[in-house]
Amino acid sequence: MKSKKLIAPSLLSADFLHLEREINDVQEAGADMLHLDVMDGHFVPNMTFGSFIVRQIKSIATVPLDVHLMIENPQHWISAYIDAGADFLTIHYEADCHLNRSITEIKKFGRKAGVSINPSTHPMLLEYILEYVDLVLVMSVNPGFGGQRFIENSVKKIVWLFEYRERHGLDFLIEVDGGVNENNIKLLSEAGVDIFVAGSSIFSKSDYKAVIDRMRESL
Ligand code: DX5
Ligand code: ZN
Repeated sequence: MKSKKLIAPSLLSADFLHLEREINDVQEAGADMLHLDVMDGHFVPNMTFGSFIVRQIKSIATVPLDVHLMIENPQHWISAYIDAGADFLTIHYEADCHLNRSITEIKKFGRKAGVSINPSTHPMLLEYILEYVDLVLVMSVNPGFGGQRFIENSVKKIVWLFEYRERHGLDFLIEVDGGVNENNIKLLSEAGVDIFVAGSSIFSKSDYKAVIDRMRESL
């Protein structure tokens, strides 16, 4: 699984009144995947959209969908998001006390299974799930909103995961989400990140291709 580094624009910062245009533009600009933030107003203090919208996005997507579930009891929703077209489906460690069962279920559907941790969660708590997951998503802001400041000690967690992966010969991808921009992407890449989620740092600019190109040059 360790291969090319990927840039995953988060549609949370896109213009939802023109979502189709935004998706086409960011795909043409070189997005490697589309990051979709599903929020339920319980696990995080915000709500976004559900599987109905994910399915519609899938119908025009030319790159894989990276679905990040920030919801309580994600185990009840796995089949709905698989069915809607999630290629990567990531659930939070903090939201599911039967993580092994849920990860196994996602993989049974033949999709990539991810686990995410909040800023205050130590990655060592994932030790007994790391051999089963395809991806670990390190939240580098408190989940719920775009445009927040990167939490610096997330870098230590990325290094911890990178070294653990090397030591144990595992192959999960390391993804970072929150406050990623042109200034810190190089440091994050050197720390071991494979997939970079970026919302406001891409969608706040008028030329998506220029910013994605600059980010890619730093990797
Ligand atoms: C936050 C979401 C992120 C968000 C990142 O809870 O998980 O994917 O869109 O936004 P930026 O890149 O603006 O920090
Ligand atoms: Zn996200």
